[in-house]
Amino acid sequence: MKKSKTIILAAGQGTRMQSQKSKVLHQVCEKNILDYVVDASKGSGIADVAVVVGYQADEVKTSLCPGIATILQKEQLGTGHAVLQALPFFKGLQGNLIVLVGDAPLIRPETIKGLVTEHEARGHGATVLTAEFEDPTGYGRMVKNQADELLKIVEERDATVEEKKIREINSGMYCFDAQTLILALKELNTNNTQGEYYLTDVIEIMRQMGRTTGTYMTPDPEDIQAINSKVQLSEVAAVMRKRINSSLMDNGVIMIDPGATYIGCEVIVGQDSTLYPGVILEGKTIIGKDCLIGANSRLVNAEIGDHVTIQNSTILDSSVDDDTSVGPYAYVRPGSRIGKHCKVGDFVEVKNSTMADGAKASHLTYIGDGDVGENVNLGCGTVFVNYDGKKKYRTTVEKNAFIGCNTNLIAPVTVKEGAYIAAGSTITDDVPQESLAIARARQINKVGYLKK
Ligand code: UD1
Ligand code: CA
Repeated sequence: MKKSKTIILAAGQGTRMQSQKSKVLHQVCEKNILDYVVDASKGSGIADVAVVVGYQADEVKTSLCPGIATILQKEQLGTGHAVLQALPFFKGLQGNLIVLVGDAPLIRPETIKGLVTEHEARGHGATVLTAEFEDPTGYGRMVKNQADELLKIVEERDATVEEKKIREINSGMYCFDAQTLILALKELNTNNTQGEYYLTDVIEIMRQMGRTTGTYMTPDPEDIQAINSKVQLSEVAAVMRKRINSSLMDNGVIMIDPGATYIGCEVIVGQDSTLYPGVILEGKTIIGKDCLIGANSRLVNAEIGDHVTIQNSTILDSSVDDDTSVGPYAYVRPGSRIGKHCKVGDFVEVKNSTMADGAKASHLTYIGDGDVGENVNLGCGTVFVNYDGKKKYRTTVEKNAFIGCNTNLIAPVTVKEGAYIAAGSTITDDVPQESLAIARARQINKVGYLKK
C-alpha cells in the first residue's frame, strides 16, 4: 500500500436524527458511531486520521481518542467543502487519501483494504466504494458508460428519471490519489439544487483532466449503511449486534437466541459458556468458560470466573469467582467481590462487600458494606444493618461462622471465627470466637390465656 491518510466527514448535524446531540456521538453497541469509523481505518493499516468537525465540534473533538486530528468546518457548505477544509492535512501527501463518512459505522477494515487495493491496481484518480441496492432512493447514483467506466455521480435530487433507475449507489466513501484530488477540488462549484460544494463532482472533473475513475463494489452492502434517523440507528445496531454475537459464537460461545442477546463491543465470553435469551452484557464484562448466564441477566463491568451460574440477576462493577452460583433474582451492586464455590441465592443483595470462598447466602439477605469469611453461612433473612441514617459502617463475619435466620447485624460489628448466632437475633456487640450469641426476648407461653 502507498502512503495513505484518512479523513472522516463528521461536521453535519444530522437533522433527521431529531436529536440535541451530534449524530456521530450516538452509540451503537456501546461505542460512538464515529469511533467505529476511526477504528476501521486504523484496522486497515491507516492510522493517520483526521476528522472534519462542525456541529458540536468541541464535543466531537473531546470524544475522540488521542492522536486523531480534527479540522473545523465552520459552515457546512457540502462534502466537497468539508474535504477542502482538510487540505492542510493532506497537501503534501504523495499517495492515497481515503475519505470516509462519520455516520456509517459498519464499514470494516477489509472493505477499506479492498477499496485501496482496487484503486492502486487500476491507477485511478478516484475509486468510489459502491453497493447495489434494491431501493437506491436517497443516494448518489453511479453513472457509467458501456465500457463500465465511471463517468460521474449524480445526486438523487439532481438526477434524471433514467439516472434514478441506476441501482449502483455511492457510499460516500472513496480512495483518491491525493494530488489529483487537490487539483480537482479547485474546480468545484455550487451549481446544483442544494447550492453545495459536492465532493461527488470531482469524478467528472477528473475525467475532464484525463484521469480514469472507477468503483469498488463492497462485498457486503451492510458495510456502507449510514445512519440518518433513529430507525436507521436501530437497524445498524441490529447488524452490529449480529456481528458481535457471531464472532463470539465463532469463538465457542453458545447462544440460545442470538437475536435476543445484547452484548457490548468490548465484552469477552469464554468457550462453552451459554447465554440465554434476554441476556445483556455491558461495559468491560469478562465471562470465563463453561458458565451459564440465564435469561434476563444484566452484567455491567462484571468479571466472572469459570463454571459460574447466574440466573435472572443483575451484577454491576463486581466480580464473581469460579463455581459460584448467583440468583435467581440476585442484585450484586458495585464494589463486590464474591469468591469461589459461593452461593448468592434468590433475593439476595450484595453491595460493596466481599464474600470469601465457600460463603453462602441462600435466600432473602442483604449484605451491605460487609466482609464475609470462608464457609460462612448466612441464614435466610440476614440483614447487614449498615446505615444509621447518616453514615455507613462495615460488618465483618469471620470464617466458619453461622448466622441464624432473620438476624440483624448492626454495624460496626464483628462476628468472630466459628461463632454461632441464634435465629432472630439483633446483634449490636462483637461475638467472640466459637461462641453462641442469642439476642432476642425469651418466649413466654401464657397457657390458656384466650380461654379467659
Ligand atoms: C452523500 C453523497 C451521496 C452519497 C451519500 C452516502 C455528496 C454530495 N453526496 O450524500 O452521493 O450517496 O453521501 O451516504 O457528497 N458533511 C460534512 N460537511 C458538510 C456536509 C456533510 O462534514 O458540509 C458530512 C456529514 O456530517 C456526513 C457526511 O458528510 O457524515 C455525508 O453528508 P450527508 O449530508 O449525509 O450527505 P448525503 O446528502 O447523504
Ligand atoms: Ca446533504
